[in-house]
Amino acid sequence: ATAQIGVTGLAVMGSNLARNFARHGHTVAVHNRTYAKTTALVEEHGREGNFVPAESAEDFVAALEKPRRLIIMVKAGDPTDAVIDEFAPLLDEGDMIIDGGNAHFADTRRREKALREKGIHFVGTGISGGEEGALNGPAIMPGGSEESYKALGPLLESIAAKAEDGAPCCVHVGPDAAGHFVKMVHNGIEYADMQLIAEAYDLLRNVAGFTPARIAETFRGWNAGRLDSYLIEITAEVLAHTDAATGRPFVDVVADEAEQKGTGRWTVQTALDLGTPVSGIAEAVFARSVSGHRDLRAAARELPGPRREFLSADEAEAFAARVEEALYASKVVSYAQGWNMIAAASAEYGWDIDLGAMAAIWRGGCIIRAAFLDRIRSAFAADPALPTLLADKGFAEEVGRAQDAWRSVVTTAVAHGVPTPGFSAALAYYDALRAERLPAALTQGQRDFFGAHTYRRVDREGSFHTRWSGERDEERTA
Ligand code: 6PG
Repeated sequence: ATAQIGVTGLAVMGSNLARNFARHGHTVAVHNRTYAKTTALVEEHGREGNFVPAESAEDFVAALEKPRRLIIMVKAGDPTDAVIDEFAPLLDEGDMIIDGGNAHFADTRRREKALREKGIHFVGTGISGGEEGALNGPAIMPGGSEESYKALGPLLESIAAKAEDGAPCCVHVGPDAAGHFVKMVHNGIEYADMQLIAEAYDLLRNVAGFTPARIAETFRGWNAGRLDSYLIEITAEVLAHTDAATGRPFVDVVADEAEQKGTGRWTVQTALDLGTPVSGIAEAVFARSVSGHRDLRAAARELPGPRREFLSADEAEAFAARVEEALYASKVVSYAQGWNMIAAASAEYGWDIDLGAMAAIWRGGCIIRAAFLDRIRSAFAADPALPTLLADKGFAEEVGRAQDAWRSVVTTAVAHGVPTPGFSAALAYYDALRAERLPAALTQGQRDFFGAHTYRRVDREGSFHTRWSGERDEERTA
């Protein structure tokens, strides 16, 4: 046995990850269901480092130094279980199976428990950064036992992206499914970011009347400021691209129906169970599904909307600056919501996740990498028990300064009939959190009226019910 690590499943993500390990001086055993892929990888990239191609599962396992570290990079779901069932019987106590796919964290909990009973460490690991990241440095979010991280962490840290201060974008997130959980929320935040950027584009296009090329310039400008991020950067690239076949802006020849593979939806489903509002992510998931409902959209096409001219050139410039503020403030809200969700799950499952460390490892490698994440890291460094990012002094000041522009952008969007569910939901959340009184009191009254569901009072302890159908006298029920 000569290999420090093995990768099975050699589609692009798996191959690139294996090459990344090899390029960092690790000997990598490589295995795939069809051997042709394995030999192709070694033929094409064998010179990048030391690969041990293995044809059978037995050869693959035999190639690994003990304790064995075996990464599976197959499609999430049944294929993952099939691979685990194939390899687990060949492993010894103390060996590690690392699942680098986008698994649902509930599956990871189940698998971890089953394998733990056999003495095998199952390490559900979030890996972000797409194909390019897998090769050149992804953000890595391993869960699983402390003990497994001791044997695995240094290898993962060696291939992870490095943040600007040189820190590897990899940390032991917490036990069992903590890693896959935070990867799921990362993807949810990715959805929210993409939706907010899409709304900003829509407003610049359909209210300000900018061309895609001009909007690309605007995004480039924003990318030099506080919105500096990978997603803003690639947005400018996509908007500046011209379709070769038609000569039209690329964005105008792509069908406007957004697809999804499910991690955003999982985030929202899970948030509902945990009772943590992630309205920014939810609106992003719903916006994608609205876009895909060709039938509904066709049926509604003739419904009236406001008839509005584009803004004048001067107004458009000022408006674009306000859109930047609205985008930034909405982004702060969606990150605040995402972090609350991680905190809630950490408490629920006893994961003890370091909230600041999540921001630190997302500074590089992953899809949501951004200068902004260092601000979140320092917010939690200043106060590890921060109840919401909106309560951090720096963010509170910035969002406070942005609020007039934010409100004005949402108002303008409504007046022009441009849908901005992300901006609007974020603003509603901001206003709900800061409200002194919410109409939830009325909701409680209604619940008590029709169902005797009881309510609490502001001035006395206990639960109360009013006898609505009788004298309307009040009784204390608990
Ligand atoms: C990443 C990405 C990656 C994938 C998304 C795409 O972190 O590298 O999030 O995991 O590209 O899952 O998701 P959708 O297909 O659902 O948009």
